[in-house]
Amino acid sequence: MAKIAIIGGTGLTNMPGLTVKYREMVKTIYGAPSCPLIHGELNGTEVTFLARHGRRHTIPPHMVNYRANLMALHEVGATHIIALAAVGGIADDCLDKTIVIPDQIIDYTYGRAHTFHGDKHDKFDHIDFTEPYSASVRGCLLKAGQSAGVPHLTEGVYGATQGPRLETAAEITRMERDGCTIVGMTGMPEASLARELGIEYGCCAMVVNRAPGKAATGIDFRDIEQNVHDSIDAVRKILAEAMVAGFES
Ligand code: HPA
Repeated sequence: MAKIAIIGGTGLTNMPGLTVKYREMVKTIYGAPSCPLIHGELNGTEVTFLARHGRRHTIPPHMVNYRANLMALHEVGATHIIALAAVGGIADDCLDKTIVIPDQIIDYTYGRAHTFHGDKHDKFDHIDFTEPYSASVRGCLLKAGQSAGVPHLTEGVYGATQGPRLETAAEITRMERDGCTIVGMTGMPEASLARELGIEYGCCAMVVNRAPGKAATGIDFRDIEQNVHDSIDAVRKILAEAMVAGFES
């Protein structure tokens, strides 16, 4: 049976609609996750919630201990992860508050502990990452988006950048040429670590700003905050429906 975990991103350090049962601090051989895991119920389904940036949003994207986060979820038996992410919109249809269920990734991050292989594990394996997101989690999110009546883009290329600074306009132009449609700072190595552990992983992204250089008005951090706030309800609806939709394998 599927055991679902949700990783909350910026603006989602709490999971709206989650009935909390208990918190659990898990220690892994890679250290502690960003915060205690919250076990609870969402729309009648047991879920485990983890706030990627910590309970008080104090851990920047490049400092997140992705290996500890993923290993902690693995240790409590998570089989499926829905990752939530606030992103910038690069493609013309990725306007503020657009929900995107991405289907591809380009990784521009560097210097992050990005694999479980090579130090504490003896065995060495490659992973197939042709399709970086799990078809069953994506399918669940797409179905959920539809039944929740929340407009969403059914595919997109998530460009993962290092942060914590936002990108330059030229970097975004390059990313657009590369084929990126959205840009965020946490999509990698989260997705590939999940694959290494055999956890089905998908992403529900909310566009909270036009990517740098894409808006005539420039970047306004108050607008970003407002867009995060305004998008939470759509994400909450999709998650509630996702619990009903379940996963086809
Ligand atoms: N760039 C990178 N990450 C982001 C952005 C952005 O414009 N907006 C939200 N997360």
